[in-house]
Amino acid sequence: MHALAVDRQTALARVIAVTNDKGGVGKTSIVANLGGQLAAAGYRVLLVDLNRQANLADDLGTRGTSVDDQGEGLLTGIVLEGRHPLPVAFGVRPNLDLVCGGTRLEALTPLMVSKTMGSPGSSGQSSPFLALADVLAPVAEHYDVILIDCPPENFILTDLALGAARWVIMPTKTDIGGLVGMTLVAERFAKAQQINPSLGLLGAVLFATGTKATAIHAAARSAISAAFGGQSPLFTTVVRHAERTAQDARRLGKLAHELEAEAAQQPAWWVTLRNHGEPQAPRLSATAASVAADYRELAYEVLNVLRSMEQAEQAGAALGAAGERA
Ligand SMILES: Nc1ncnc2c1ncn2[C@@H]1O[C@H](COP(=O)(O)OP(=O)(O)OP(=O)(O)O)[C@@H](O)[C@H]1O
Ligand SMILES: [Mg+2]
Repeated sequence: MHALAVDRQTALARVIAVTNDKGGVGKTSIVANLGGQLAAAGYRVLLVDLNRQANLADDLGTRGTSVDDQGEGLLTGIVLEGRHPLPVAFGVRPNLDLVCGGTRLEALTPLMVSKTMGSPGSSGQSSPFLALADVLAPVAEHYDVILIDCPPENFILTDLALGAARWVIMPTKTDIGGLVGMTLVAERFAKAQQINPSLGLLGAVLFATGTKATAIHAAARSAISAAFGGQSPLFTTVVRHAERTAQDARRLGKLAHELEAEAAQQPAWWVTLRNHGEPQAPRLSATAASVAADYRELAYEVLNVLRSMEQAEQAGAALGAAGERA
């Protein structure tokens, strides 16, 4: 293998793209909360926002703050093909850094189209879809995990993320539309492996679903398994439906576990009622604790699957090396 490819691959060993072409299936919520849980557990985490709408900035509470460059740094990094250090917003939480998305990323799709036209049929080392990989590789050594929040319905930016990622997590809802979207992801995944052969599938996550809807979950498992050629890469953990907590999170720029802590501190409802005449802040939903628990479980499961996949690969590599020596 080409030396550059080996270096890039080693550096990007724990880059996870969270992707589904379908909109509103939980990509951003999972990136924010999975990243938040891993960071709270002491892992060094970088989140990369590839979205023009930058909802990740809402979930983290960074929109309009001094760190919010609207995606300018990421765009510049890709234009300059990694010759410019990637501007990272450090410490948006302890152990949690961010590469911002935003409206400046609107220029990224036409840029990638022109790069693709400039190198028709390019693949492997020369593929323009390795541009994000080149930008991330120099900073990757500082992190245990890098999560990329992919945009909906944008094949070009999704391919850019898949060119940089080692692993893919696909959130989905259990409705027919979500599961049809899963088939599209499976197709893109197969295509992206031609640019980035090291791309692996970590698993799918059911998002905003009833925790007791076991028959629906079983049907989703079969549909996902069929989309991915008989494998059933569905995480056991689901993220429960919790609309009020979701609204609290985006309105306040807080992660589920942060809302959990704040909800536990708020006075009892009857104390609030006694404060006649005082303007009342809306009460936080106590469901935040259950949602936070879902994300904790998910973080635990993701780390375990990641470790077992890495161990299986190392064992495979060792066997291969032994075979070559024999
Ligand atoms: N546990 C939950 N239950 C119900 N709704 C939720 C939950 N968590 C988040 N949401 C809401 O679901 C919507 C979609 O979530 P999110 O933005 O994470 O999806 P997305 O796949 O990133 O969307 P897009 O494709 O538009 O980027 C948002 O309005 C979010 O507030
Ligand atoms: Mg999103």
